Amino acid sequence: MRRMDGSEVNRVALVSGGSRGIGAAVTSGLAERGCRVGCTYRTGFAEAEKLAVRHPEQVVPVRFDLSDPETATTAVNDVVSRWGRLDSLILNAGQWAGGRLTGTSPDSWWRVIDSNLRGTVDLARAALPYLATSPAPSIVLVSSVVGLIGHAGDTAYAAAKSAMVGFGRSLAKEVARDGIRVNILAPGFVTTDMTDAVPLSSRKRIEDATILGRFGTVDEMAKAAIFLSEDATFCTGSVLTADGGWAL
Ligand SMILES: NC(=O)c1ccc[n+]([C@@H]2O[C@H](COP(=O)([O-])OP(=O)(O)OC[C@H]3O[C@@H](n4cnc5c(N)ncnc54)[C@H](OP(=O)(O)O)[C@@H]3O)[C@@H](O)[C@H]2O)c1
Repeated sequence: MRRMDGSEVNRVALVSGGSRGIGAAVTSGLAERGCRVGCTYRTGFAEAEKLAVRHPEQVVPVRFDLSDPETATTAVNDVVSRWGRLDSLILNAGQWAGGRLTGTSPDSWWRVIDSNLRGTVDLARAALPYLATSPAPSIVLVSSVVGLIGHAGDTAYAAAKSAMVGFGRSLAKEVARDGIRVNILAPGFVTTDMTDAVPLSSRKRIEDATILGRFGTVDEMAKAAIFLSEDATFCTGSVLTADGGWAL
């Protein structure tokens, strides 16, 4: 990114859920491109710290809990007070919890919605004033292909991920006047801690239903997220599906 005087300035990003899985790969990928990255952790400080050690001066661990609105404000403030700006926000932190509607209590059903959606919205809200002062700001929301086509046993998780699409596309319309692009990544099944719980027989069924015949990798998701965040300068309100053709 260039300053008015033509000199280069490294972008500053905040990646929620940056301590593990897809978020950790996004954090590394952005750092390798020269970005400075606030990488959020909730329980995984040690993992976030490892990324900071691997990319000294470029990655800083920042605490953020989806269920604690105050941490949304402090996470954004930590990054801005360190580097004086914010150019990219990657809203990746999320939690999977399954169960058929009839087998889930109302409280636990709504907890899944709340734990995925509330903190995501809080973090976007806290970041917007700073993003609005960046010359090339962007937001990427990490939804899920399950939020686009549905999945039995996932009504709450899918509803939360679907809401992220509606939220992101509406926000894109609201903030275009500030030059902020908002795009959505919808991953299919990706090998991370989150999908470790998938039993081998179900994993095989999913792989068989996936045109490319396998789960995706965190690096593949990171490339897609970074494309939307940094390179896709004529995309806003877009939903990029990265699912190996599972939803076809
Ligand atoms: N893996 C898949 O197949 C898949 C498919 C579609 C969409 N996704 C979405 O992609 C995103 C990343 O998934 P992943 O597979 O990389 O997950 P993961 O390996 O389980 O990592 C989850 C990350 O989110 C953070 N996190 C979890 N709950 C949080 C909370 N309540 N507050 C703040 N941070 C929290 C974790 O932080 P700590 O470890 O520090 O607690 C961790 O950094 C999620 O939004 C997920 O829904 C994943």
